[in-house]
Formats: sequence, C-alpha cells, structure tokens
Amino acid sequence: MCGIVGYMGAKNAKDVVLSGLKRLEYRGYDSAGICVVNDEDVNIYKEKGKIKALESLIGDVEIEGTVGIGHTRWATHGAPTQTNAHPHQSYSGRFTLVHNGIIENYQELKDQYVPKVERLSETDTEIIVHLIDAFSQKGYETEDAFRQVLNLLDGSYAIALIDREDTSKIYAAKNKSPLLAGITENGENMVASDATAMIHVTNEFKELRDLEYVVFDRDTLTIKNYDGEIIDRETYTVDWDISSVETGQYDHFMLKEIDEQPTVMRNIISQYQDEDGQLNIGKELDGLSVPRRVHIVACGTSYHAGLVGKSIIENIARIPTEVHIASEYMYANPIIEDDVLFIFISQSGETADSRGVLNQVKEQGHRTLTITNVQGSTLYREADYKLLTHAGPEIAVASTKAYTAQIAVMALFAIYLEAEQNLENNIDMFHELRTISTAMEQLKDMKDKAKDIVDEYLTGVRSCFFIGRQADYNVVIEGALKLKEISYIQAEGYAGGELKHGTIALIEDGTPVFTVITDPQIAKNTRSNAQEVEARGANTCTIVAKGLDREGDAWVLPDVHPLLTPLVSVIPLQLISYYAALQRGCDVDKPRNLAKSVTVE
Ligand code: AGP
Ligand code: GLU
Repeated sequence: MCGIVGYMGAKNAKDVVLSGLKRLEYRGYDSAGICVVNDEDVNIYKEKGKIKALESLIGDVEIEGTVGIGHTRWATHGAPTQTNAHPHQSYSGRFTLVHNGIIENYQELKDQYVPKVERLSETDTEIIVHLIDAFSQKGYETEDAFRQVLNLLDGSYAIALIDREDTSKIYAAKNKSPLLAGITENGENMVASDATAMIHVTNEFKELRDLEYVVFDRDTLTIKNYDGEIIDRETYTVDWDISSVETGQYDHFMLKEIDEQPTVMRNIISQYQDEDGQLNIGKELDGLSVPRRVHIVACGTSYHAGLVGKSIIENIARIPTEVHIASEYMYANPIIEDDVLFIFISQSGETADSRGVLNQVKEQGHRTLTITNVQGSTLYREADYKLLTHAGPEIAVASTKAYTAQIAVMALFAIYLEAEQNLENNIDMFHELRTISTAMEQLKDMKDKAKDIVDEYLTGVRSCFFIGRQADYNVVIEGALKLKEISYIQAEGYAGGELKHGTIALIEDGTPVFTVITDPQIAKNTRSNAQEVEARGANTCTIVAKGLDREGDAWVLPDVHPLLTPLVSVIPLQLISYYAALQRGCDVDKPRNLAKSVTVE
C-alpha cells in the first residue's frame, strides 16, 4: 500500500522521484508529495488525489536539484488532505520526512519528547520528524538523532529523511513496511518501496531488513542496524527492464499482463529446465525432505492459485495438502502435526496476513517455502526455501499472470516431490506447460469474443454468477473475484452442485451465469446445474473444453492436461472481466478501495 522514493544523483530529482512515484501508483494511495532540495531551497509540493494533481500543482515551475524524496499516502491518521499529505517538516524546518506505515506510540512519544510542539497535521508521521529535530537540538549528529528516534518507534514504517543542513545524504529506515535500496556505480543511489520504482535508474538492489537503516550519498550506500553497526549486504540483480513497467502499446497494464502469460509460461520453463530437459529446481530446495503434509497459505487470487496447487500436488505427489486463507488461519489455533511444509504463495511477497502466519509457524519450528514473484520481498527473505514465479512485474491491481505463474511453479514443485519419493512419473510437465503456452496464445487473441460476451451478458447487469465443479470451481471463484474487483459487478463463484442449496433463489430473468466445464467425468453434472438456472430465467454463458462442447456454447477451450485446465480456462474469464470494466468506464488498473500490495492486516 502506498509508497516512498528517495533519490540522490546526477539527474533532476523531481523527474526521477515523480516517475518512481508513478510506478508505485498501482499500490494504491490517496495523496502524493515530493521534496527536492538544492543549494538555496527545500521545495515541497504536495496535493491530495492523484499524482497528476501533484503535477498540475507543480505546473511549469522548474525545480532544480538532484536530491529528492517522494511519497504516495494511504491515509491512516487524518483525512487525505493536502495538509496531511507528506512530506512533513520538523518544527525548525530543518528536517523533511516521508513515511509509509503506522506509528503506534506516536502520542506517547509526542507527550514525552515534544509536548510543546504544535502539530500542523493530524498524522502520526509528523511526530517522527519533530523528534529527530528535538534530538538534533540536544546535540546529536543527524545520523545519531535518526537512530535514537528509530529506537523509540513502535509500529510499521518505511521512512526517508532529508536534512537541510547537509543535503549530501538521505537517511532511510524500515520496519514491517517494504523498502529496498537501488545502487549504481555512476553516482546515483536510491531507495523505494519496490524495484519497479527504481528500474528507470538501476536494476541492482540491496535488500533492507526490518529494523535496519541506510545512509546514502551519490557514491556510497551503507546499511546499519539500530545499534549503528554496519551490515554487509550482497547486491542482487533483477532481470526486469523498463518496458516491463510501462504499458507500451497497451492502454492498461492488465491487458498487457494477460497477454504476457504465454511468455511467462515459456520463461518458467527456461528457468526451471536444464539442458537435458530435466527439472532444475534442486538447488533452491536443497535440504528439503519430503513432508508428510503440505499447508498452503495465501490471500485473494494467490489463495485461488493455492486451491489449484492442492489438486496438482495431491494428484502428482500424493501428499495430503490443505489450503488456508492467511487472515483466517492466523487466529484459528490450528492443530499442526510434525513434518509438514508450509507454502506461502504471494505475488508481492509483502502481504501482511500471509507474513503473520509465516512468522507464527516459523516460531513453532515448521518448515516454510515461499512462492513469489518478487525476489528480495519480505516473504521471500523470511522463508526457509523460496521459488520465484518469474512472471516479471505485475502492476495492475487485478492479478492475472501471477496467478498462472504460481500454478505453473506449483506444478513443477509437485514433480519435484514426486521424483523425491521415486513415484512413477506419468506426466511430462515441461511438455504440458509448452502446450499450455500455445493454448494461451490462441485464447488471448480471442479478444473480440470476450467483448461480444460482455455486450451480450453483462451490459447493464448488477450481479452475476460463475459456476463449475472441481478444477472448474477453483477457477470460477477466481473469475468472479476478477470481475467484481475491477468492474464492481457483484459476482459470485459457486460450486455447480451447491447453487441449488440456497443461492439459486437469487436467479431471476436475465441473471448471467457463466459456466466452466473442462472435466469429462463431471461435465454432465455441471451441464445439469446450468440447465437448472436456465430453467429459472438465467442467461447462461458456457465456456467448455474441446470435445465436451455442444451447440450454443460461448467459448471452446483448447485441449490441455486435465490437472492444468485452470491455466487456460482462466484466460477467457480474465478477458471478460477486463472488457466489462472497460465497458463501464472503470479505472481498470487501479480499482477503487484496493491496493496492489496489502501490507496491513
Ligand atoms: C488479485 O486480483 C487481488 N488484487 C488480491 O486478491 C491479491 O491476490 C491478494 O491481495 C494477495 O496478494 P499477494 O499475492 O501479493 O500476496
Ligand atoms: N500513517 C501515515 C499517515 O496517515 C502514513 C500513511 C501511509 O502509509 O501512507 O499519514
């Protein structure tokens, strides 16, 4: 949620920081601001609303300066107003600070250390910067004052600070909020909430862990712990390029990301297959013995991918697998036997609900594996084992390519577990994923069909249903989530056989019901469920695997391995959601009330 950027280098800081902030827009925010310093001035501009509003406020003013910090705010303390927007300045005007997160003890700290300072905003953030000023006035050097204050803060934060008296440095710190350092060898260094906000400057990064801070100038960047001890942290390279964080010829990231799915499948194959065509996943999982049971923990779309993963792992590796919604599992007081493996699935690797469970089960001594798209993210760092989904940055709030990538990587993990147990291998997974990639190519090009379906079934409707059984049920709940989150049509995914146990009461003349059928063994049953609703007036739209199709079906899917059908059946559902949102004039990539990365519980 929200974001920060700090830059120091040779370029115009306003431009670098603003383009960084734009790349963080997908995370969700309600106001934005920047501070750029030069020899004469500390220039602060902030505005409520979108970054465009901030840019209009700045207008044609040339802000010279090569040092800057910026912020997108997701208000927690005080309304999203211009006054509450960041950056905030200390009472003497010396320090300027941006902050993401929540300072839980801000009131106590204010009362104890700066009782007389008048607050200009309603934010918790403002207290941090006053405290730094107060410590500096007690005689502390800026870095020491910063560290003193960090040691007092309770809560979550990513912070960046500029000192007017020495603008050659930026100070930044983090605890339970994402922050990453970007480094170069040509006199530029940065921090930002994620790599996408820095990819226009560098693709070399250093992770920052909780309760660490960083001090950087143009040429050096030093990470320290809160005792001031230097931490040696390796640099890692991310193979994303600038085109992966821009829409290019597309109007929206979501459509670009839907279209990227065949490429992502091929990328996963090339990352995890060796020259002899064998699975090359061993080094990531070195030392991981086969568990007796797998627990998959995730939220939202990643949870839906987990449901598909369960059926793949159980069918291929024959290991009992349970899937849990992270926010529920955290408080469920579950009975967990020994010798289990917890798998955390997360596109962002920053989801607070999932992280809560990860910390809990690690404390209990269980083994953990994170499957994520973001190298260096919190869940990536904190798990014992990690597998990357190699989908490239996913910017649209609605997750598409991350979902299919997660399923593909879980399928490879299932093959790994199968081989480790010397079970007979009946499926050439790389071949199957190649077939999937070709099938996805065909489906993604059927955009006119998706548009026609939207016109026919979703024009003017307020609610609709998605039904399917087994693997098709797993995919229809994802289809329903996709549609509701970006088009705001109320959409519910149901197990085909369950509708008649209550929900069928909601079916009336014209209610759209999307039915997915890919499993020959239960195709007839799902057909009957579709007929039941049709008999009550529903407008049914059937998406069906080749060979099971009948006249009148809306969309026929290419034939793929039965365990992997969600990888193809989800594509029509993603496209239908996209065009439904477009038809309604919704902000496709940044739907209301949502953030890409949900870093609060
Ligand atoms: C997906 O379209 C959603 N925006 C959301 O459900 C998302 O999948 C969920 O918040 C989990 O995020 P993560 O994969 O980054 O952990
Ligand atoms: N708690 C701070 C505020 O409300 C920061 C919010 C954020 O994460 O952007 O201003």
